[in-house]
Amino acid sequence: MTNVAIIGTGHHVPERVVTNEELKQWMDTSDEWIRERSGISERRWVTPGTTTDDMAHAAARMAIDDAGIEASELDMIVFATINPDHFFPGNGVLLQKSLGVDTIGALDIRNQCTGFVYGVATAAAYIKSGLYRTVLVVGAELQSSSLDLSDRGRDISVLFGDGAGAAILQAVDPESGSTSDVLASSLHSQGENARELWCELPAGCLPGRITPELMAEGRHFPLMNGRAVFKHAVIRFCQAIDEVLEKAGVTRDEIKLVVPHQANLRITEAVAKRFELRPEQVFSNIQRYGNTTAASIPIALSEAVREGRLVRGDLVVLVAFGSGFTWGANLIRW
Ligand code: ACO
Repeated sequence: MTNVAIIGTGHHVPERVVTNEELKQWMDTSDEWIRERSGISERRWVTPGTTTDDMAHAAARMAIDDAGIEASELDMIVFATINPDHFFPGNGVLLQKSLGVDTIGALDIRNQCTGFVYGVATAAAYIKSGLYRTVLVVGAELQSSSLDLSDRGRDISVLFGDGAGAAILQAVDPESGSTSDVLASSLHSQGENARELWCELPAGCLPGRITPELMAEGRHFPLMNGRAVFKHAVIRFCQAIDEVLEKAGVTRDEIKLVVPHQANLRITEAVAKRFELRPEQVFSNIQRYGNTTAASIPIALSEAVREGRLVRGDLVVLVAFGSGFTWGANLIRW
């Protein structure tokens, strides 16, 4: 069977920096409250007119260049977002067009913060089965247009930011001497908690899908039960990491780097404490970007590579938890 290597990474964040202080013009909050609870100091927001596809395109181009391939060599696009530019079609086809690639397949993934982990597992399975050789996996989120900036939405609106990240996965012959591989993945969901972190509208199950009355109630904004999310996230992050380590017969100590979904610095710290991970074993950039949902892992991975935190042969864990609830992990030999 063939192995799977990540041969290129890329990311893009909008230029506009929004500090915690700036949020005070819309809502009753403080830099201290936000940093204490989440670790976030600032986030990036797009300027009006920018699309999810624009950010995905920039991240994908960077990953393609980093891999040293042509876009025409891609066999498949896997696109994770909770913020598609339109209700349908999904953003995968928009990226296929903007990259100017042939009529390759484009799969849209709706697994919220866990979207990129699902995407890597899916792309690796495609490649190992022999169906495709080179797959682009993207996570891109334009969240700033969906936030309730009044006091009503302040618990969640202070957390989210915009951005995109991408990775190119390619088949690699183990005989070539490369040890790179996606060694194991674990994917989970628990729909009984679907409404603990969700955005109800537009809703296909409601006549008209969205009405001024429903909008007045704020039901088109994301809603979160913060305490439930925190509690479940810490437990599920730990379980997912343990599962992939066990599947591959790897110990915690052998992990070079954990790249967690950047949900909240306090969640990451709680996971690191439980696992007795050393600070250099965990990557965090939420301080600068906030929570960018499906984009957070590929942005972090791209930065980690550029900071020299990963070299070929290292073991890296990608792990996420999010709305659904969904959670999962990938164990990768870089
Ligand atoms: N600024 C100031 N005050 C705020 C803000 C804000 N932005 N948001 C809420 N508050 C207020 C509340 O209104 C409440 O006020 P009250 O006591 O007068 O009613 C008070 O702060 C609640 O504060 P805490 O007691 O600290 O609340 P709690 O302990 O529940 O913490 C928090 C809230 C930070 C949301 C916490 O539950 C948490 O971190 N949850 C995890 C959520 C998360 O990180 N989600 C990430 C997105 S999901 C994902 O990616 C998996």
